[in-house]
Amino acid sequence: MITDSTITRRSFISGGAALAVTASSVVSAPRAAERRLRMALVGTGARGSFTWGQDVVEGYSDVVAIVGLCDINHKRVEAAKKLMGTTAPSFVDFDRMIKETHPDTVMVTTVDATHARYIVRALELGCDVMTEKPLCTDEEQCVSILDAQKKSGRKVTVTFNARHDPEAKRIKGLLMEKAIGDIISVDFHEYLDTSHGADYFRRWHRMKQNSGTLLVHKASHHFDLANWWLDSAPVEVTAFGDLKFYGRNNSFRSTHCRVCPFKQQCKFYWDVTQNQDYVKLYVDCESEDGYLRDGCVWREDINIYDTMSMVVKYENGVFLNYTANTYLPFEGQAISINGRTGRLDYNEFGGGGFENKGLRLTRSFGKSEVIQDLEARRTGGHGGADTSLHDLIFRGSQGSDPLGLRADLRAGARASLIGIAAYRSIEGGGKTIRIKDLVEV
Ligand SMILES: NC(=O)c1ccc[n+]([C@@H]2O[C@H](COP(=O)([O-])OP(=O)(O)OC[C@H]3O[C@@H](n4cnc5c(N)ncnc54)[C@H](O)[C@@H]3O)[C@@H](O)[C@H]2O)c1
Repeated sequence: MITDSTITRRSFISGGAALAVTASSVVSAPRAAERRLRMALVGTGARGSFTWGQDVVEGYSDVVAIVGLCDINHKRVEAAKKLMGTTAPSFVDFDRMIKETHPDTVMVTTVDATHARYIVRALELGCDVMTEKPLCTDEEQCVSILDAQKKSGRKVTVTFNARHDPEAKRIKGLLMEKAIGDIISVDFHEYLDTSHGADYFRRWHRMKQNSGTLLVHKASHHFDLANWWLDSAPVEVTAFGDLKFYGRNNSFRSTHCRVCPFKQQCKFYWDVTQNQDYVKLYVDCESEDGYLRDGCVWREDINIYDTMSMVVKYENGVFLNYTANTYLPFEGQAISINGRTGRLDYNEFGGGGFENKGLRLTRSFGKSEVIQDLEARRTGGHGGADTSLHDLIFRGSQGSDPLGLRADLRAGARASLIGIAAYRSIEGGGKTIRIKDLVEV
């Protein structure tokens, strides 16, 4: 299922009209003949430039007009503009962009910990918002977004592309049909390898203050899937996490790969200059912010976890057992959903000559079958999931979403809050954290 490769609550949980926002205004964008959706974008790194830039310019220009681009790095925003092939004006001042370009919606693709400030400001300035996951990285940000949405009445959409994976959709459909009866528990294991997994430890993600750890940055995808599949809200979280492999766990280190004296002996040496898009977006822009895309995975400032293990209890009584390990010989996921009358298994992992892949339904006292009638995989990023997401939000009509693929503010908040509760639990030595103690609205 989907991975994040760069190329490849108190009362709000119980609902309330003001917070029950959907993607409706984005989705009901005026038809092309009348008016295109005016979208401004903040954060012109890889995700902004390609998925929400180039792909939108190439595939959706009949319905979407990118009206402005903003980033704190002025060289990067210019490089992104060229990569996207747009003539939209570029800005380093977000307020100025909004005031001069009058967008209907703002797409937020900045570093995770900065999402909240742009979401809140865009809402205050009267725009709808679409944001990359995670919605936010701490509980204060979550409250500020919920408050700003309530005051503004504008719409917030969280662009959870993992829901759009064909297997994820099929699992949702099977659970809606009660194919395994009521769900009792879920086992969700995330495997990240020495390439993609290691990449998180090279980049800004390696600092908790930027990403909220991988429990927020990465696992918010997985928690959103669980919340959506289970159709329930998380109540409490108990977690353990440690940095056992990267960071200080090596005898040598440097600042970044290009200048490293250990290039020959380090298995994690990675040459950013082999990718011309990365050279344009990062290497050529280093003079402005000092950001090193090829940071050393052994740096001692790494303060996120590479090994994570936790349990989430849901309102409907389900237990979610979740683990993530980030230094494995292969990538993938192993997900099992245990129901009263059967079990669903989704596996996608393998390497070194073995493979375990597929979606399987096994009925208690009955047969086990491989589920093959999956929706055709589209072309595009993340195994076509990005295209499915774009189609839904830019071309989908209201009422055409039987699986509930659209993710609203509440979905974004719940997914982030599980990750936030998890790192608070780890900070407290495995203390159980109640979600309602984190966010009270
Ligand atoms: N859904 C997915 O599959 C997926 C995949 C990749 C990334 N993402 C999300 O997209 C976002 C961007 O990730 P990326 O891989 O493009 O990272 P990136 O490092 O390539 O880009 C981040 C950009 O944000 C800019 N930025 C940082 N602080 C800023 C600030 N205060 N104001 C304005 N701009 C700021 C940086 O200059 C950079 O251009 C992240 O939130 C990430 O979680 C989602």
